[in-house]
Amino acid sequence: MVRVVRATQTEIEAAVEFLRAGELVAFPTETVYGLGGNASNPAAVRKIFEVKGRPANHPVIVHIDSIRYLHRWVSEVPPLAQQLAERFWPGPLTLVMPRGPNVNDVVTGGQDTIAIRVPAHPMAQQLLTAFGGGIAAPSANRFGRLSPTRAEHVREELGDAVKLVLDGGECQIGLESTIVACLEGRARLLRPGAVTLAQIRGLIGAVDVGAAPGAPRVPGSTPAHYAPVTALEVVPLDRLEELVASHAQAGRKVAVLAMRTPQRAHRNATWINASRRPEAYAHNLYAYLRTLDKVGASRILVQEVPAEERWDAVRDRLSRASASSQTPLPEDGAGGVLP
Ligand code: TXA
Ligand code: MG
Repeated sequence: MVRVVRATQTEIEAAVEFLRAGELVAFPTETVYGLGGNASNPAAVRKIFEVKGRPANHPVIVHIDSIRYLHRWVSEVPPLAQQLAERFWPGPLTLVMPRGPNVNDVVTGGQDTIAIRVPAHPMAQQLLTAFGGGIAAPSANRFGRLSPTRAEHVREELGDAVKLVLDGGECQIGLESTIVACLEGRARLLRPGAVTLAQIRGLIGAVDVGAAPGAPRVPGSTPAHYAPVTALEVVPLDRLEELVASHAQAGRKVAVLAMRTPQRAHRNATWINASRRPEAYAHNLYAYLRTLDKVGASRILVQEVPAEERWDAVRDRLSRASASSQTPLPEDGAGGVLP
């Protein structure tokens, strides 16, 4: 069971003070940990980009505690967004809408739209309510890397660059929010997540999928993203063990994320047996990949997940993680090899 902890009054007050002073605070949400800064303070938002090593033209999500503050950030609330917000907020859904006139360019990457989310995690809610304003927060990882789903991941990723990490235990969902753009009378799914396409279509009808033609490039939509350092490859189950064996022949260590135990012993493999339920798999995915990233393997081999919609968010993150892994295997003796 996931432990959801509430922060003490002292912790929340400290976090709010840091945010008001333009400093960064990491906090848990039910999806992943966010690296938060005052969304109304351009210097604070710039600091987020610096700490993450993220290019300045990539927009961040503004978090608010409820729909009551939405009007401060958008120029209009499209009816489709209103419907989605009423149904799925607070929760793992981010809505892209036309930006309001007072929003700083550094938040939106200069685009005329803005992404808004109302997270459900009690500690995120506590922080947002106490702060009162919007908190700009990307996932609290270095640019292009795995999102943190535990407080210790944030420390690992960012060290002392963040003043305070609120520890809310493990994130329940474990993958970033679903992103839906509601613009010009249409809805478009930009990133799959725990709120599924079927749920969204069930509520509002037609939904386009994928980046809009001619859309500005944004990090969640670049193929290479959410990646471990070790090259990652997605492999069908029927090829998995033969591939592990062929790496063994070449003297290479591999790390495996599968959905069953190996049928024979592989001396060269660190093997994690993940859940066959998409929710449980997603909950653990980034923590497992972090673990496998540290075993000194030359490759992480991930068993292909089912081609069902319930697995869309997981499949999306795996395919992005493998897209940034087009690196050649190390030469024998160059790392990731068997002792
Ligand atoms: O679950 C989440 O969404 C987490 C937690 C912390 O809320 N946040 C998160 O932020 O994943 P980040 O920055 O890692 O990803 C936000 C994505 C980016 O990929 C960006 O492309 C997209 O949101 N985005 C932000 N503003 C946008 C906009 N105006 N139009 C289109 N996409 C936008
Ligand atoms: Mg991110």
